Amino acid sequence: MENNPTMEKIVNLCKNRGIIFAGSEIYGGMGNTWDYGPIGVEIKNNIKRAWWKMFVQENKNAYGVDAAILMNSRVWDASGHTASFSDPKMDCKECKARSRADNLIEEYAKKHNIDVCPDKMTNEEMEKFIDDHKINCPKCGKHNFTNIRQFNLMFETSRGVTEDNQNKIYLRPETAQGEFVNFLNVQRSMRAKVPFSIAQIGKAFRNEVTPGNFIFRTIEFEQMEHQLFCKEGQDVEFYEEYKQKAMDYLVRLGFNREHLRYKDHDKLAFYAKAACDIQFKYPMGWEELNGIHNRTNHDLSRHQEYSNKSMLYMDPVTNEKYIPYVVEYSIGADRLMLAVLCEAYNEEKLENETRVVLKLHPSLAANKLAILPLMKRDHGDKANEIYKELSKHFMCDYDESGSIGKRYRRQDEIGTPFCLTVDDNTINNNTVTIRFRDSMEQITLSIDEVKDFVLKNIQF
Ligand code: GAP
Repeated sequence: MENNPTMEKIVNLCKNRGIIFAGSEIYGGMGNTWDYGPIGVEIKNNIKRAWWKMFVQENKNAYGVDAAILMNSRVWDASGHTASFSDPKMDCKECKARSRADNLIEEYAKKHNIDVCPDKMTNEEMEKFIDDHKINCPKCGKHNFTNIRQFNLMFETSRGVTEDNQNKIYLRPETAQGEFVNFLNVQRSMRAKVPFSIAQIGKAFRNEVTPGNFIFRTIEFEQMEHQLFCKEGQDVEFYEEYKQKAMDYLVRLGFNREHLRYKDHDKLAFYAKAACDIQFKYPMGWEELNGIHNRTNHDLSRHQEYSNKSMLYMDPVTNEKYIPYVVEYSIGADRLMLAVLCEAYNEEKLENETRVVLKLHPSLAANKLAILPLMKRDHGDKANEIYKELSKHFMCDYDESGSIGKRYRRQDEIGTPFCLTVDDNTINNNTVTIRFRDSMEQITLSIDEVKDFVLKNIQF
């Protein structure tokens, strides 16, 4: 059994099985954009649903929002993104490829076991490191770079008909600000008492130079973000609690705990009290999957300053007034999707073949049940009847083409937890065979029992 897939295997499976395709493919693609296919969109929706269930539905002090992607530009002045959300980039003078200087240094350091932290280096120090170590352009292999320049990562667009600086707006680079700017709205309308949290799932956009790695780092992606507002002094405990909850979510999704680890940040933002990531062992190595930050009362204080609206919260019991602290938990839905696929991918040697099986948590699988008539002519009508009824309750697939063995394999590759075979016994006795994806064992159930059996086994 192999469950250490290469990125190439994951990309090929995604392309061939309707999970993820290259964006705008028929036009030659559009660097770093990806389209989710019929199977992929279901898996990703299920990932988001599970997150919402754990962090909103199961938490009586959590409130969801869905804020606009386009926000008043002052938001980004307040958040600091206009001034300093940038990457150090350099161009190759030979082939014109653009690279991130910090990435070049990190990759070189990893390969040569050098302890260095580009986040703590000035542009001049990074240029010197790249020169001293003769680091070459990853595209053409030559060493002939421009100086480093800082590029802001926000995508700009303009509102209205004339394009001038006054109309300049941005595609949001994170969903978090939609939660901060609605702090007062949510607190008042929901009569929320601190501590409480605001959660949101939505698209974010960053004009990143990326070294590939499929959907790990893209220019358009979805974030699932959760801001816990609390009183100063409670923040340390909540920070620890959310570190644990973030890990619990992943383990509940089926991750092996040994494939995950905490990594404290080497460098903290000036306002932050603590920050750490949970990393996953991706095919290219250990990389950030999500982040947990103790952001103090920096965010709400900045919005108070820039909007002139008081962000003071008055405690209804003690009458104390304060600007709440924020513990942020943030995870990319696409980056998690990649981790889920890598974790679930298995190759198993059977007698005469190797089967590829995605051992997804059943709640994440695109289809919960595949309905397979043994013979189309004799069993097709009954199978269609079953499909019509069960698809009202959960996603089902219907497949009548090819041998039953081939049909099982196709379902294994997309992670369908159960296959239901319709045969003569179904016609004569109303019984069906249910085949389990992971063990390949089979049981017999009466048709009436199938709905509850599946519903019971697909809970997150
Ligand atoms: N509000 C905090 C924030 O946005 P971040 O570390 O920049 O923090 C949070 O992003 C998470 O969003 C990351 O841990 C990652 O899962 C995801 N993410 C960030 N940039 C991404 C990108 N370019 N492509 C895919 N996912 C990304």
